[in-house]
Amino acid sequence: MKVLLIGGGGREHALGWKLVQSPKVRELVSAPGNPGLEALGRCVPVRANDAPGLLALAKTENPDLVVIGPEAPLAAGLADDMRKTGIAVFGPSAQAARLESSKAFTKAFCARHGIPTAASRTVTSLEEAEDYMRTLAPPFVLKADGLAAGKGVVIASTLDEAIASAKAMLAGQFGAASQTLVIEEFLTGVEASFFALSDGQTVRPLIAAQDHKRAFDGDRGPNTGGMGAFSPTAQVNETMAAHIMECIITPTITGMAAEGAPFCGVLFAGLMIDADGPKLIEFNVRFGDPECQVLMMRLQNDLAPLLRACATGTLDQAAPPAWDERAAACIIMAAKGYPGAYARGLPISLPQDLPADAQVFHAGTALDANGRLVSAGGRVLAVTALGDAVSDAASRAYGLIGEINFPGGFYRRDIGVRLAAKSQSGEFS
Ligand code: AMP
Ligand code: GLY
Repeated sequence: MKVLLIGGGGREHALGWKLVQSPKVRELVSAPGNPGLEALGRCVPVRANDAPGLLALAKTENPDLVVIGPEAPLAAGLADDMRKTGIAVFGPSAQAARLESSKAFTKAFCARHGIPTAASRTVTSLEEAEDYMRTLAPPFVLKADGLAAGKGVVIASTLDEAIASAKAMLAGQFGAASQTLVIEEFLTGVEASFFALSDGQTVRPLIAAQDHKRAFDGDRGPNTGGMGAFSPTAQVNETMAAHIMECIITPTITGMAAEGAPFCGVLFAGLMIDADGPKLIEFNVRFGDPECQVLMMRLQNDLAPLLRACATGTLDQAAPPAWDERAAACIIMAAKGYPGAYARGLPISLPQDLPADAQVFHAGTALDANGRLVSAGGRVLAVTALGDAVSDAASRAYGLIGEINFPGGFYRRDIGVRLAAKSQSGEFS
């Protein structure tokens, strides 16, 4: 099989790393890829948001499978355009990608299909926003309807603050994405990310992972794309996973098919779990980053046929996903300043030899004019390891960080430490 992988972050390096382990994959081509992916196959400098460029590339390369990593090209209809040319694509249509690209769509969809989620109202004016917020207790949760690069959620502690945020958002703080807002009830509990694969009809659970969205230790600081992840999580044991499948994932796949927008790809449910069970915070229509890195470390199946089965409507015939019993943890090394302004081109040196069962996935790296590895993004490296328990996996990943020289970088020191301890309380299991 020849596989074309779209994207160039840590998620895509992890997908590429797993794909080339398949005896069925003879060639991996990445667009645009990164220096980590370069070691696994050819990288072509076409960006993930250059739809015409990617379509032309797909026609020239004629791959047996296209795997689309990020959400923006999916929301823009790249999977539809590629499918029209007869190529097998792992990734949802633009219609199905509305589960991520429109929070208003998703809220209405959940209401139509009885999927548990926070009570909410979709509004387009400040009056409507204020009327609804007056019926809620603080804190207030305001969400831009559309894609806002993970920044479109505001949690305001007072009504005045919430009104000021609503005003700014409706006035275009996030462009067209925030001209419609979803205002919702604040949920409490423990967050988990749960993943499932679908070919549009059949659905297969993957597993859960725990992300760490805040920049600094102890869940302080600004929200980021994710500073680290681990799997498994004690909240999502087998019983909880079955419950999530039954009340959230399966009705979504069935509902999307019934509404004429079958979902092909990976459905990522961001959940809040408390004593009443799981509630949906948001859907994403792609693998999480850095959740994907821990999933790929634990997945035992050959990934290529599994993704191709999703792309070709044959997931019912594929071997069910199987998992390494060991835990995995991923620590993100980011450029100082991230998620605000940060420098690029910062030197990095990586250890020559990696211990078995550990990987340094490239997230935002490049080679400079002299061929030296430098940073090229906010999240730079995703240092990932397996271990008997989450805490062992995390210590091995931290051990590996000790061998990486990246003076312009920073990382959280509590990935898999504090939350793993909380999970072990068994409160929700
Ligand atoms: P999202 O971009 O929808 O994942 O939201 C970003 C973060 O905001 C989530 O990971 C949660 O920590 C928080 N959040 C979103 N919605 C709610 C809610 N209804 N109640 C409490 N926290 C929320
Ligand atoms: N780590 C969260 C995300 O990928 O959206």
